[in-house]
Amino acid sequence: MAKKNGGKKKQKRYDHLTEMARITRLMKEMYERGQSDLCEVRNSEIHGRGVYATEDMEPETQIIEYLGEYINKEISEERAWAQAAKAEENGEAAVYIFTLDKKWDIDGNVAWNDARLINHSCEPNCEAWIEEDQIFIYAVKPIKEGDELTFDYGFDIDCYEDHPCLCGRDSCVGYIVSQEQWPELKKRLADKSA
Ligand SMILES: C[S@@+](CC[C@H](N)C(=O)[O-])C[C@H]1O[C@@H](n2cnc3c(N)ncnc32)[C@H](O)[C@@H]1O
Ligand SMILES: [Zn+2]
Repeated sequence: MAKKNGGKKKQKRYDHLTEMARITRLMKEMYERGQSDLCEVRNSEIHGRGVYATEDMEPETQIIEYLGEYINKEISEERAWAQAAKAEENGEAAVYIFTLDKKWDIDGNVAWNDARLINHSCEPNCEAWIEEDQIFIYAVKPIKEGDELTFDYGFDIDCYEDHPCLCGRDSCVGYIVSQEQWPELKKRLADKSA
């Protein structure tokens, strides 16, 4: 009887370690997928940490995958509200959720997704493009080694004052607002200062 129980215990431990091995292998794979030879994470002059080019690149170069957790719209909405509440509390305008299709989104707020650290700029040199079930960051301008990678966060003009932009570009509009809404933003800023 004692031997039988010992055998069960051994099997349980074996199953547990096999599962742990599978999970750690997956984690390693994800971590490696989140890295790219074309860029690296460094302290940013725009904000906190940012992502910098390690080589010169032509437009349309695929730089790095934007990895994350696949979530359905219901979960996505819950998380978007939670993120918005957090942003209101501490001013952190973090956006990590990307729309994938009608049913699915990707929440990039995971440690192995280096691309989540890409900052916003009013003169972005990158865009996030969806390819099948994946998102990749592509260069949209010629990029030099050492340039910080940036894209347009596409924030809505609502609550623009909560998101001052520190991109430092000549064309900076002062706030993190989608370029499509710049005419409206400029109008509102002009009205305010009149
Ligand atoms: C998705 S994270 C980007 C990585 C961030 N730099 C970090 O170290 O965690 C978004 C955060 O970066 C900040 N950020 C990104 N671009 C910015 C910009 N152009 N001006 C000011 N803050 C910016 C936002 O305030 C937001 O909290
Ligand atoms: Zn700016």
